Amino acid sequence: MTSTDLISIHDLPEGEVHEIFAVARDVKAFPERYSGALNQKTLAMLFEKPSLRTRVTFEAGMTQLGGHAIYLAQDVGLGKRESVRDIAKNLERWVDGIMCRTFAHKTVTDMALHAGIPVINGLTDLLHPCQALADYLTLIEKFGDLRGRKIAYVGDGNNVAHSLMFGAAKLGMEIRVGTPAGYEPNAEIVSSAREDAKRTGGKVEVVRDPFEAVRGVDAVYTDVWASMGQEAEAANRAKVFPPYQVNSKLMAAAAPHAVFLHCLPAHRNDEVTDEVLDGPQSVVFDESENRLHVQKAIMILLMGKR
Ligand code: CP
Ligand code: NVA
Repeated sequence: MTSTDLISIHDLPEGEVHEIFAVARDVKAFPERYSGALNQKTLAMLFEKPSLRTRVTFEAGMTQLGGHAIYLAQDVGLGKRESVRDIAKNLERWVDGIMCRTFAHKTVTDMALHAGIPVINGLTDLLHPCQALADYLTLIEKFGDLRGRKIAYVGDGNNVAHSLMFGAAKLGMEIRVGTPAGYEPNAEIVSSAREDAKRTGGKVEVVRDPFEAVRGVDAVYTDVWASMGQEAEAANRAKVFPPYQVNSKLMAAAAPHAVFLHCLPAHRNDEVTDEVLDGPQSVVFDESENRLHVQKAIMILLMGKR
C-alpha cells in the first residue's frame, strides 16, 4: 500500500481497496499471525463525537496487534484549545498513528497535512470510510466478488451514504441511493464516485422513490435520519423520513437473498423496524465485528511499514 493515510475511499487506488480486504480476511482467519504486527506502536484516538464501535474496535485492534491506543476526548479542543497543526506536530513526536472522529472534514485533512504519521478517518460530517470498508467486507463474505452486485441505500444522504458510494464505485458495484428532496448526497461526491464507476463498470444512481432504489438489489442499507451534530433537526427530519423506513414491505422489493445492513447505532422503529433489524436478513453485527478486522488491516498497512 503506497497511501500514507486513510481519509477517503476515493483517494485509494482500486488495488489498495482490494489489498485492505485481502489483509482483513487473513487477519480475521489467522489473528495470531498478526499478534506482534504493531509491537510497541501507539495510536492516538481523537474524538469530537460519541462512539461505541469505533473506539472499541480501534483500541481492541491495537491491543491485539501488540500495540496500544490512547483515547483522547473532546477536551483536547481540536482547533479550540490548540490548533490542529500544533496538535499534529506534538502527536507525531510521540505516537505512530492518529485516528480522528470530527465534525468538520477539514479537521481530518488538516491533521493529515501536518502530521508526518498516518491519519485515519474515524468519521467526519462528510465521510465514514472505515465503516464502508467493513460493510463491503461483510458483503464479500456473503457474495464473493462484488462486481456487478447491487446495493441500495435509503434515507439521509449522509457521511455513511457518501463512503458507501465511493466504495461501490471502486468495487464495480451498482449503488442506488434513495432520499427525500433536500437530503440527497453531496453533488461533488456523486460526481467523483461516478468518475470512479466509469473505470470499474460500476454505477451510481440517486433516486427519490425508496422502492425504486431497492428493487432487486442484493443489499439494503439505512442509517439514522439525524446524524451526530444534527440533533436540533431531528424533530423536523422525523416528519420527512418515514416513507424511507426499512420495513418488511420495503425489504420484500429487494432480491429474495438480500441482506440488510446498518452501521449502528440504530434508532429502532424509526429508520428500521425491529422486525428487519433482528430478522434473518440482518447482518448488522457481522458489520460491527468486521470493523475490528478491517481496521486491523488498515493499521497494519499504514503503521506497520514505518
Ligand atoms: N458505526 C459506528 O461508527 O459506530 P460508533 O459511532 O459507535 O463508533
Ligand atoms: N451518520 C451517523 C453515523 C454514525 C456511525 C452519524 O454521523 O451520526
